[in-house]
Amino acid sequence: MTTQFPTTAGRSTVQLTGQDLIGKGTRRLCYEFPGNPAYCIKIPKAKKNGVLQQRREVKYYEKLQRRGISTDLITNYHGCIETSLGTGYVYDAVRDEDGNISRHLELYLREQPEHYLEYLRLLREIEQYLFENQVLFYDLNTWNILCRKTGNDSFEPYIIDGVGDVVAIPVLNLSRALVLQKIRRRWMRFIRKLTKRFDWMSEYRVSH
Ligand SMILES: Nc1ncnc2c1ncn2[C@@H]1O[C@H](COP(=O)(O)OP(=O)(O)O)[C@@H](O)[C@H]1O
Ligand SMILES: [Mg+2]
Repeated sequence: MTTQFPTTAGRSTVQLTGQDLIGKGTRRLCYEFPGNPAYCIKIPKAKKNGVLQQRREVKYYEKLQRRGISTDLITNYHGCIETSLGTGYVYDAVRDEDGNISRHLELYLREQPEHYLEYLRLLREIEQYLFENQVLFYDLNTWNILCRKTGNDSFEPYIIDGVGDVVAIPVLNLSRALVLQKIRRRWMRFIRKLTKRFDWMSEYRVSH
């Protein structure tokens, strides 16, 4: 997902209120960028590791940007900005075609099982993306994937969180083989969990 970052020149601090809140995670709160619905601003919660993890994520996104990898399935990171609630981190916002904020894959899986063929397609697309671009996804779960609704029963997946690695001492240049091994291990774990929950997942074949 690639969009043009709004200019912040001349804007000192972005004022955020509860009305701008889009979603809450365990580590961050996510707000709509006032006046720029294509973007959201994430504010780490006061806890120390929230900020630490945010910094790690930023480093990983910058590394991906330097590598020039496709950002088709991730919400691009556009830099940090001062807000009335502290330092915020700007990302693309995921919205359905009608402009509403897109919903989590988890909610679709629970509430609209009839679209299972589309979910299978979407999972294959994510698998392909992660392996082809060698993108690590440490927190691979169905709350960190949003489904952008493009029609009555068609979706595009977006990874909003959990991209990168969580290791105390990051090895900056893991070999390609080691990266692929890590991705495979995590992907298999994710698929196994889904297979335990949904019968239709028996149709899913990991192909990487
Ligand atoms: N790019 C985005 N577009 C739309 N909503 C988002 C986006 N990123 C996060 N959200 C919403 O904010 C919530 C928390 O964001 P997330 O990045 O997952 O935080 P955490 O790191 O605390 O898990 C998400 O579950 C989702 O509801
Ligand atoms: Mg999350």
